[in-house]
Amino acid sequence: MVDTLTPVLTDNWGDERSWTMAAYEGRGGYGALRKALTQEPAAIIEQVKDSGLRGRGGAGFPTGMKWGFIPQDNPNPKYLVVNADESEPGTCKDIPLMMANPHVLVEGVAISSYAIRANTAFIYIRGEVLHVIRRVQRAVQEAYLAGHLGKDIHGSGYDLDVVVHAGAGAYICGEETALLEGLEGRRGQPRLRPPFPAVAGLYASPTVINNVESIASVPSIVEHGADWFSSMGTEKSKGFGIFSLSGHVRNPGQFEAPLGITLRELIDLAGGIREGHQLKFWTPGGSSTPLLTDQHLDVPLDFEGVGEAGSMLGTRALQLFDETTCVVRAVLRWTEFYKHESCGKCTPCREGTWWLVQTLARLEKGQGSEQDLDLLLDQCDNILGRSFCALGDGATSPISSSIEYFRDEYLAHLTHGGCPFDPAASTAFA
Ligand code: NAI
Ligand code: SF4
Repeated sequence: MVDTLTPVLTDNWGDERSWTMAAYEGRGGYGALRKALTQEPAAIIEQVKDSGLRGRGGAGFPTGMKWGFIPQDNPNPKYLVVNADESEPGTCKDIPLMMANPHVLVEGVAISSYAIRANTAFIYIRGEVLHVIRRVQRAVQEAYLAGHLGKDIHGSGYDLDVVVHAGAGAYICGEETALLEGLEGRRGQPRLRPPFPAVAGLYASPTVINNVESIASVPSIVEHGADWFSSMGTEKSKGFGIFSLSGHVRNPGQFEAPLGITLRELIDLAGGIREGHQLKFWTPGGSSTPLLTDQHLDVPLDFEGVGEAGSMLGTRALQLFDETTCVVRAVLRWTEFYKHESCGKCTPCREGTWWLVQTLARLEKGQGSEQDLDLLLDQCDNILGRSFCALGDGATSPISSSIEYFRDEYLAHLTHGGCPFDPAASTAFA
């Protein structure tokens, strides 16, 4: 058993009523906010830059650099928006974090807003998770009552209002500009970038949009320092992150560990693959990241290592499938998701995801021909790099990578005249 967990954001998850102000303050919570308010905002941005924190929503853009793009000479108000619309298939880190430890997010919001000189912040939460919305609303209420939010916070002269906003349940609203459209009351569809939100975001004003886990990491950086944070992780991927393991492992769940940990180590921490079975394929960061296989167990799970293996770190949503799972069926299921969630704004994605499902479904039923594999790859080529936002590109990832590693399994559907797997043997589609 490896001993590489670094519990920071998850440290209090086992505490009784960990989500309350009393429990959070009992562990020294909001001390980082008090400390931050004694410093210049620019010094906090420098500290976050020095820590090496990179966006935890999937893309890994340097957080401090993003904050530094906010033009302070722009007379418009500045905004902080927390992207809590977690919806990537397999991703389950922000929701448990907000349930167990909502105050670390609220404290992070207060410090980050102060750093970029925003007086209004929004927490945009996926609409289907009512229990999470209520929990975060309650934490915000408690923070107002304790004087951590509102007017003249702790006598610093700094004012901050925080609004908890419920999304309407569309995956595309996790794309930052579609999220802004939704927040402004319009249909959630992506905007053209540039301009990036840091320059023209909410109500055309400078806006920082960060993932829940990125913002929740800020109090610990202010409290312990940039060097503490950057001493963990790898050379270019600093710090720790929450890895969520789901699927065919004995103890699925969230594991907070330094970036660069391997899947082999995480499987160990999760008690191993389910008894009597072997790993067949997995996703490093949800279904938008190309599949990897059992050849990739020792790939360092950081932005560079996973990239070199031909995939992306993404949201660290590790979905594990053993040899009982039909890869064609898994990929078809994900593709149906993308078809359903395509916002319809651009043709390659709107039409392309429909065609991908038709071709895949034919193959899965064993009714296609070998040429359908080339057709699928051609359809992917016509979507990848030609779509308006990352959803279209993401839809192609599981298809092209599964054909790369499991071409024979696609062909076996044709020779078998249908799926050669026993659906009862796998729990993947239960
Ligand atoms: P991106 O790389 O285009 O942008 C990342 C961030 O950096 C954005 O906030 C963007 O505004 C900022 N940025 C990039 N270049 C900039 C520049 N020149 N100036 C100012 N700001 C700049 O990535 P994108 O399209 O925003 O997100 C894709 C990622 O989202 C994927 O890696 C995927 O893993 C992840 N994702 C996460 C989901 C979830 O549920 N958490 C769902 C679906 C995808
Ligand atoms: Fe909408 Fe898909 Fe185009 Fe993105 S790629 S704008 S989700 S149709």
